[in-house]
Amino acid sequence: MAKSNKSWIHRQDKDPYAKKARGSHFRSRAVYKLSEIDKKDRLFRTAQTIIDIGASPGSWSQYASEQLGPQGRVIAVDILPMQPIDKVSFIKGDFTEDQVMRACMAGLAGAQADLVISDIAPNLSGVKTRDQACSMYLAELVLDFADEALKQGGDLLVKLFQGEGTDQYKKELNKRFQKVMVRKPQASRDSSREFYVLARGYQV
Ligand SMILES: C[S@@+](CC[C@H](N)C(=O)[O-])C[C@H]1O[C@@H](n2cnc3c(N)ncnc32)[C@H](O)[C@@H]1O
Repeated sequence: MAKSNKSWIHRQDKDPYAKKARGSHFRSRAVYKLSEIDKKDRLFRTAQTIIDIGASPGSWSQYASEQLGPQGRVIAVDILPMQPIDKVSFIKGDFTEDQVMRACMAGLAGAQADLVISDIAPNLSGVKTRDQACSMYLAELVLDFADEALKQGGDLLVKLFQGEGTDQYKKELNKRFQKVMVRKPQASRDSSREFYVLARGYQV
């Protein structure tokens, strides 16, 4: 077994969030990042139409679908397949492709989104500058999409990786939203450069 696989398995064995996820119906430990932010910020208070970008294997979509009222729905997109979830419409495709973004818009069927959540992350090459550029590119596409999809007053939760471009990105968010807050949930490993930005009150 490759050394990196071994260390991943070792880390998963030791990780309390991975253990907790294995004992639950959630498909990934990532759910605890979202639920922690939700507990603090009450993300789903009024959210009925939610877009989940980079959704597979689906724990965020599972969590989001459980917060919805009777009319609520989630549109989820990922380049990888995802097992079905009640109240979640899944679009399989590469979010960097125009047609996939258009399919997400079409899924809204003329409605506007209350909340866009994005945990999208590129496959890492190990070349730090390249990986950072890829992750910022995806984050920019998420913001372009939010510009199209969000209703006035809507919210965006987006994952970023600390590094080149994140300050500028936050400035862009500040131009569009009433309030921009940084979140680093405990379930997000200290060793990871990932963090989340919650932008509330879209007002363009
Ligand atoms: C950290 S995982 C998301 C985990 C998810 N939030 C959950 O709770 O199960 C990041 C996801 O981003 C997806 N992704 C990366 N690049 C993508 C792209 N260009 N288009 C669509 N999805 C992409 C990956 O396939 C992966 O499933």
